[in-house]
Amino acid sequence: MQSCAGQVIFPEGYLQKVYKHVHDAGGICIADEVQVGFGRAGSHFWTFQTQGVIPDIVTIGKPMGNGHPVAAVITTKDISMSFKNSGMEYFNTYGGNPVSCAIALAVMDVIEEEKLQENALITGKYWVSQLNEIKKQFPIIGDVRGLGMFIGIDLVKDRETREPASAEAKHVIARMKENFIILSTDGPYCNIIKMKPPMCFTKENVDHVCQKLVMVLKEIEGKNINSNANMKKSVISGKKETLSDSDDSGVSVNGHHGFVNGQEYVAVHPGDTDSVTVVT
Ligand SMILES: Cc1ncc(COP(=O)(O)O)c(C=O)c1O
Repeated sequence: MQSCAGQVIFPEGYLQKVYKHVHDAGGICIADEVQVGFGRAGSHFWTFQTQGVIPDIVTIGKPMGNGHPVAAVITTKDISMSFKNSGMEYFNTYGGNPVSCAIALAVMDVIEEEKLQENALITGKYWVSQLNEIKKQFPIIGDVRGLGMFIGIDLVKDRETREPASAEAKHVIARMKENFIILSTDGPYCNIIKMKPPMCFTKENVDHVCQKLVMVLKEIEGKNINSNANMKKSVISGKKETLSDSDDSGVSVNGHHGFVNGQEYVAVHPGDTDSVTVVT
């Protein structure tokens, strides 16, 4: 799965063909499991396994220490020896430190003991099914996809043209944050809502997120969202402020509600000084 490019799931056999082409051309294949590894895909511990391939190098990080900074590179003896024999010097200050190793081992114990991979599979399937129900109500949802507990909701302006709904996605994550749910946007057009919670997430947690998501999607339903509104930074900061009528921005704002050229809008992005979403 492409974790940082919109949770795209490769067609069956895709990586097998890619790996063959790369190997035939004398290259090596690297699987970056930094975001997707350690059971998150649910069905498999490593996501490359879902494609039936064996990488030459695997990189792992983030979830390995559950917040503690620890990462690793796994490769074959041949590849590591070729690096060593190149004469290039490599060292780092914290490499192999026992505290990080103990933490990484403890994390793996917890994943196993608390059956977090199984939870990713079961709760992730439930989540996707709930999101597909929500999709029926909201045409803005173009696709729901994911593996285990790594899910993307593809927001589109039109399901036929698949024009990305980037401003709407940005708005959704801003409103979700106001409801204490941290999400991010992903994909080349930043129109995919990325959902990647801790693997101890429960069905109740899923229900809570879905309920808030429905609330936010209802808010923007049928509304014109424009994140390129030409607003002044002083307004964007979300401070209570009213600009005079003569100001060419035509904006007055009070917290998260205000008027743009006489039209009411809701939800600026507090703290975001580069852009603002306007819902008219
Ligand atoms: C997919 C992916 N690979 C690699 C990295 C880099 O990891 P690190 O910060 O441990 O070098 C990141 C960091 O966000 C990532 O998302």
